[in-house]
Amino acid sequence: MTQQSTARGPRWWRRGAIAAVVLALTAAMVAVLGVYDRPARADLQNPRQDFLRASTSGVFLHWGMLTSPGYTSCTAWENAITGGGWSADYWVSEAQKLRASYLVLATFHSKLGYGRAWPSSIPGTCATKRDFLGELITAAHAKNIHVILYMTNDAQWHDLNGHEWMDSAAFSKYAGHTVDLDSQSGFGEYSYDNFFDVMKSHPTLDGFWIDNDNQYWLDHNLYQQIYQLHPNMTISNNNEDTPIMDMISNEQKTGMTPAYDMPQAYYTAQPRLTEADYKLPSSGAWWYDGSNSSVDYGLNIGRYIANVGNTVLSLMAETAQVNGKFPSNQANFNNFMNTYLPPIWESISGTYGGGYMYGGMPGGAWNNGAYGYTTISKSNPNDQYIHVITKPSGSTFRVRDGGYSVSAVTNLRTGAAVSFSQGNGYLTLSGISSWDQYDTVFKVVMSGRTGITTGVTATASASASGHGAANLVDGSYLNYWDSNKTTPVTITLDQGSAKNAAYLAINQREDTVTQTASSSARIKAYKILTSSNNSSWTTVKSGTLPNARGAQYIDIGASARYIRLEVDSTYASSKQLRIDELWLGNAYAGASSGGGGGSSRVESESGTCDGTIDNNHTGFSGTGFCNTNNAVGATSSVTVTATDAGDATLTFRYANGTTSSRPMTVTVNGTVVGTLDFPVTASWTTWTDASLTAPLVSGSNTVVLTATTAGGGPNLDYVAVG
Ligand code: GCU
Ligand code: CA
Repeated sequence: MTQQSTARGPRWWRRGAIAAVVLALTAAMVAVLGVYDRPARADLQNPRQDFLRASTSGVFLHWGMLTSPGYTSCTAWENAITGGGWSADYWVSEAQKLRASYLVLATFHSKLGYGRAWPSSIPGTCATKRDFLGELITAAHAKNIHVILYMTNDAQWHDLNGHEWMDSAAFSKYAGHTVDLDSQSGFGEYSYDNFFDVMKSHPTLDGFWIDNDNQYWLDHNLYQQIYQLHPNMTISNNNEDTPIMDMISNEQKTGMTPAYDMPQAYYTAQPRLTEADYKLPSSGAWWYDGSNSSVDYGLNIGRYIANVGNTVLSLMAETAQVNGKFPSNQANFNNFMNTYLPPIWESISGTYGGGYMYGGMPGGAWNNGAYGYTTISKSNPNDQYIHVITKPSGSTFRVRDGGYSVSAVTNLRTGAAVSFSQGNGYLTLSGISSWDQYDTVFKVVMSGRTGITTGVTATASASASGHGAANLVDGSYLNYWDSNKTTPVTITLDQGSAKNAAYLAINQREDTVTQTASSSARIKAYKILTSSNNSSWTTVKSGTLPNARGAQYIDIGASARYIRLEVDSTYASSKQLRIDELWLGNAYAGASSGGGGGSSRVESESGTCDGTIDNNHTGFSGTGFCNTNNAVGATSSVTVTATDAGDATLTFRYANGTTSSRPMTVTVNGTVVGTLDFPVTASWTTWTDASLTAPLVSGSNTVVLTATTAGGGPNLDYVAVG
C-alpha cells in the first residue's frame, strides 16, 4: 500500500522468506522438545516465553508527557524528568519489593502524548534526547528484571486536549511519501517503523506489550519479523488473543464475587500464557493524574493470589509521577509487600495454580464462606499450598484433597503445625484460632496421589466434530470433548471390569460462562448411573454442580464396570459444554501419618460393600457404613495407603447389635492375615474397634473382610491404619 524504502529497516517484501524460517524453526523445536502434540496455535509454547512463565508479576508504568501536570513540549517534559531527579534504579527497586520480574514502560501511549522516552531519528512525535529506556534496561538487567515496551495501536487521541501530538508533515518527509499519522493506517506505518527503530537502538529490550492491534502491522507481518530479528523478545497482546503473540493480557474486571476473583472474567484456556492487568490505586486514571489515591491492600493481595492460583501473571499498574516516584500510598504498599511476601514466597513463586490442569487441591469456594486458591510446586507436586483469602466462619477449614495423601500441615507464615484429618476425599484442618488479615497460607505436604483408576475409556452420546470423547481420558489438556450444545448428554466410562468408583472428577474447560467472549458452559444438573452390561442402568446419584472454576468432584460410592455421567442442563445453555479431562477415583486417599488429627482412616463407603451403604444408625463417621449381606462370604473391601512397607495395625470400627459375634477373615493384598470375631456391641449405634496387625506394602493395599457365618459381617464404619 505504500512505497517502501530499504533505508528504513526490514520491509514486507523480505518477509515471505523470514516467516518460512520462523515456522521451520518452531516446528523443529516442537519436535525436539515434545512441547505439544497437536499445536492449537503456533506459539502456545515457545522457549522465549520461559521468563514470563517463571514470573509471578510485572509492574506496568504508564508514564508519559501527560503525566500530571502534563506537558506539550518534549523538551519541557524531559527537563522536568531529569530536573526531578529521575533514576531508573528507583523503579527497579520498587519492582523488587513487589517481587515483580518485569517492567512494562508505557510512554508511547495514545492518552499520554505518544512520547518516546528514548532518542529516535524518526520524526512524528516527541523523542527525548536522554535515553530513559536504555537506562531502565541497563538498571533492570543488572537485577535480573526484564523490560517490555508498550506500543499503542491507536491514533484516535492525536489531538487530545486540543493539542496536535503528531507531526505528519515531518514523518511524510522522512518516509518520502504522504502519511497521515492521524489515521489508523498512517499511524500504523509510523509505529511500525518505530518498532524496528527501537529494536535497533535497544537490542536487549525483552519484548513488546501491544495494545490491541493495528491492521498495518498485521498486513506487514510485524510480529513474525520481531521474532525473526530477536528470537528472545516476547510479544504480549492486550484484549485480543492473537495466536502468534506469546501472551494474552486481560484487564482484571471489577464486580466479581468476591471482588478479588479473577477467573470469572477470564476467557482464555490454559496453558495459553495469560496475564491480568490491574491498577493498584483504588481510583483515578491508570497514570498519575495528581492524586494520591488510596490502595486497597486486601483487594490487590487477593488479586495477586487469585492470579497465582490460576497460573495467570499479575501486571500491576502504579502511577509514577514525572520524576518517576510513586505517590506515597503506592510507595507504602510496595514497602508493605516487601515484608509481607517473603515469608510465603515459596507458596507463590515456582508454583502452578492448583485444582485444575496441574493437579492439586481445588480452589474457589470452600466451607463456611471460605474462599481462596491453592498452588502446587512445579518441582515437587507433593508440596502444596492453600491460600485462604476469605476466611471461613469458625475454626475449621475443609477442602477436597484431590486424591493426595496428606502427611503434614503447617501455617507457612507462622510455622505452626496445624491439626488435620483426612477422609472421604476431604482434608479438614481444625482448631485454627487466628487468620492472617489478607492471606492465610497453609503448607500441605503430601505423600503422593493414590486411587486414580487407570485404563478407562470414554464414549459420549453427542460430540462436536473433532472433539470426541476420547479426548476426555487421554491425559492431555490441549484437547477437549465438546457436547455440541446437546442436553441431556451422557459420557460413559468403561473400566474394563467391575471396579469401585469412589468419585468422578471433572475438569471443565475454562472459557468461563460469565464472560461474553467465552464459548464454554459448565455442568448444572447431572446424574450418575452404573451398569454391568452397558445397557441396563441404575441411577445412583443426581445433583447440581456449582458454577465454579476448577475440578469438580462427584462422590459415587458404587462398584460397576460402566459409570455414566448424564448432564441434564448447563449454566449457559447457549454455549457448548467442554471438558478437558475427567477421571475416576477407586478409593479416597488417607492421611499417611497422624497430624494431630489422628491416624489415617478409610471409610467403608469409599470401598466396595457386598451389601448396602446405610446411614440409619448414628455414630458412624463419614457418610455411612457398610451393612453387608447376611450371608457367608459377604465382603467389604477398601484400599488403604501406606507410606512404608512393613507391619501396621489395622483397626476396624464396627457395630454389632445382635446377640452373637459376626466373625470375618481379613485378607490383605490377596493373603489371609487373620480373623476378627466382631463380638456384640450394646446396640447398632454403639461403635467399637477391633484390630489386628498385618503386613502392608508401600502404596496401595487392598483390605478385604469376608464373613464366615450366615449372619454376614457387622456394620462396618471404617478402617484405620496405625
Ligand atoms: C438390622 C440393622 C442393620 C444390620 C442388620 C444385620 O437390620 O438395622 O443395620 O446390618 O440388622 O443383622 O446385619
Ligand atoms: Ca447387615
